[in-house]
Amino acid sequence: MSEPTGTPTSGQGTPPRRVRVHHLREAKERGEKITMLTAYDAPTARIFDEVGTDVLLVGDSLGDNFYGYSSTIPVTVDEMIHHTRAVSGAVRRALVVADMPFGSYEDSPAHAFATAVRLMKEAGAHAVKLEGGRRVAEHVRLLTSSGIAVMGHLGFTPQSENVLGGKRVQGRGSDAAERLSEDAMALQDAGAFAIVLEMVPAPLAARVTEILTIPTIGIGAGPQCDGQVLVWSDMAGLSTWTPRFAKQYGNVREEMIRAATAYNAEVRSGAFPDDAHSFLE
Ligand code: KIV
Repeated sequence: MSEPTGTPTSGQGTPPRRVRVHHLREAKERGEKITMLTAYDAPTARIFDEVGTDVLLVGDSLGDNFYGYSSTIPVTVDEMIHHTRAVSGAVRRALVVADMPFGSYEDSPAHAFATAVRLMKEAGAHAVKLEGGRRVAEHVRLLTSSGIAVMGHLGFTPQSENVLGGKRVQGRGSDAAERLSEDAMALQDAGAFAIVLEMVPAPLAARVTEILTIPTIGIGAGPQCDGQVLVWSDMAGLSTWTPRFAKQYGNVREEMIRAATAYNAEVRSGAFPDDAHSFLE
């Protein structure tokens, strides 16, 4: 999206215009790409917001990326609330989307509504994301008709990894492609404002992007999606392992290793703290 310019701000002055769901749809109409990153805490959210990232996703990927869980499945609503509150309190422009974790919405639209209300009231989320297509269309319809902005998630849906047989590309073959397209239409008809497509063949993602009026946000879904999302620790090089589709734009891990090694050495040698870092009277 074109606004702002992407120039980091000092955090002072006139607040930037808040990204709203209609801005994302307008970006799609203008052919401008939407940027989305995950964020789980205030300092990283502030950085991504300052450089003009359009959407910050408090993903349940915090489970496998920051809590050391083996998947997203153990993540609780309370954990999502803690992290969403930190992110929503730090941003001035980005749209903050909170993931509905596994077990917090699937069984009924009423359960989905109760969880979404907690994420908005207790944590300040601007929107929620849930996984699935036609099976959650009624959930999405209740939420959106109640004033809650909903992002869908199709393709590889990590909360169903045990049914899907692991982290595998979804939508291969004409039947699976047709099912995914129908799921995407059902989410749009139910009022979703955007759909994440994860690990979907690029030609299928391009087709879904073309038939929908709402934006698609790809992760491992090729270049034709209306926007892209990455888990920030994959994007910035903090993860020890990254999926093939995740491009690394920095090496935060190496920089932290360098800094912590230098700190340990200076403490052990007595070089830190020196006079400049002490109160001399
Ligand atoms: O939890 C998450 O980070 C996600 C993205 C991978 C889209 O759902």
